[in-house]
Amino acid sequence: MKISVIGCGYLGAVHAATLASMGHTVVGIDVDPARVAQLAGGRAPFFEPGLDELLRDGRATGRLRFSTAFADAAGAQMHFLCVGTPQSKTSDGADLSYLVSASKSLLPHLSRGDAVVGKSTVPVGTVDKLGRILAARPDVLLGWNPEFLRQGTAVKDTLVPDRLVYGVRGGKEGAFARRSDGTQGAARGVTAVLDAVYEPLLRAGIPRLVCNFATAELIKSASNAFLATKVSFINAMSELCDAAGADVTELSEAMGMDPRIGNRYLHAGLGFGGGCLPKDIRSFRAQAQALEVRSVEDWMGVVDSINLGQRARTAEVAKELCGGSIAGRTVTVLGAAFKPDTDDIRDSPALDVALRLASAGAHVTVTDPKAINNSWMRFPQLRFEASAARALEGAELVLLLTEWAQYRDLSPAAVGQLVRRRTVLDARNVLDAAAWQAEGWTVRGLGTNHAAALTEQISAG
Ligand SMILES: NC(=O)c1ccc[n+]([C@@H]2O[C@H](COP(=O)([O-])OP(=O)(O)OC[C@H]3O[C@@H](n4cnc5c(N)ncnc54)[C@H](O)[C@@H]3O)[C@@H](O)[C@H]2O)c1
Repeated sequence: MKISVIGCGYLGAVHAATLASMGHTVVGIDVDPARVAQLAGGRAPFFEPGLDELLRDGRATGRLRFSTAFADAAGAQMHFLCVGTPQSKTSDGADLSYLVSASKSLLPHLSRGDAVVGKSTVPVGTVDKLGRILAARPDVLLGWNPEFLRQGTAVKDTLVPDRLVYGVRGGKEGAFARRSDGTQGAARGVTAVLDAVYEPLLRAGIPRLVCNFATAELIKSASNAFLATKVSFINAMSELCDAAGADVTELSEAMGMDPRIGNRYLHAGLGFGGGCLPKDIRSFRAQAQALEVRSVEDWMGVVDSINLGQRARTAEVAKELCGGSIAGRTVTVLGAAFKPDTDDIRDSPALDVALRLASAGAHVTVTDPKAINNSWMRFPQLRFEASAARALEGAELVLLLTEWAQYRDLSPAAVGQLVRRRTVLDARNVLDAAAWQAEGWTVRGLGTNHAAALTEQISAG
């Protein structure tokens, strides 16, 4: 099928490249000419494992191209909207101006029977709003197919998703023809077009759920809200563990063994960041407020404040480890990306903590395997060093803030030779504390401070 993908960021570029790998003929359209030129050259404008290879393959087969001209979307039967929906500059709600603008630009190039399907994460009610823009073309089908990919594993997540969700007008009832005996017949409308797009995935047994627009919009928001809730829950427990002399890693391991709870997203640490979860829970909060559902509004507020509190808490522990003041201390921060296996620094907890320490007077050097170039352009007030070994030289405090495998696997003996003082704050709770302590390191985590609490109790008692 001929497909256009509007907006070629983390979501759209991966979506376009994977669709081409499934055999479709795809044009990716973006308003950023530099991004389009790079993608057209077969190179991803950001680090995402496996994407460069897919872009090169798509280019070689001639099935994948990129353009800044919306006119190039003409002739495609399916148009996916993948533009950004960032937090509004003036409120907690999502900024839908990019979606509105992309829809208006696409409108003159649509033909009878085309399908326009959004993948961006949007507040409930957005599809109806876009429907009003597209009302000038009643012969065009509209749908919403929210995306659940995770940066770092985006290619795999797109090719082998847990599920496909189709939001269609009228929900399941309108999506299928009815047989004379009243049973469900063949898919029709936008459901049929989406089924044709995802035919290889459906054949492989990926579940597909068809629902109405509002449900599809809420499935994505509620899923993110639940993940954020799990992270903030265990982070709140980590604070409780520190206060009570318990160990949060043991606590979460035991909790996670209960299949009703599960251990995914139940790992205490510095908390979540990035271009999705933080803005999505704020948008969800704003939606609940608009719909006057106080419980969800309050809930999301608490989840957000626990998450942001972890950043302040980490900076406080760092100061504590430096004897109460960090001014003038040499500090090395391991990690700048918001999570491992990406170079994305949007709302990065690691950089947030680094900036807090720098503004408290510390000499902060940040290192990261992939995110140094984009970081130093955004934050010239911090010092960046691509080589972890050079970044660690002379450190009086090391903070592990993004759990890249290469930092988890650092040799405490080798790092000990580089630093001035063997003190590490493992704000992701991933280091083997015993192995580091055996090399003479003072190790602090978040919610794992039971040994220190015990020492205090013993000396007090
Ligand atoms: N990044 C993720 O992991 C992820 C996962 C699931 C869902 N989402 C959702 O997908 C959407 C996009 O996220 P992203 O991370 O790819 O954002 P992004 O900022 O990386 O990409 C957005 C792209 O849209 C382009 N754009 C903006 N206005 C445009 C217009 N009018 N016409 C054409 N292109 C335009 C931008 O130039 C940019 O390249 C968001 O709603 C996000 O919440 C993202």
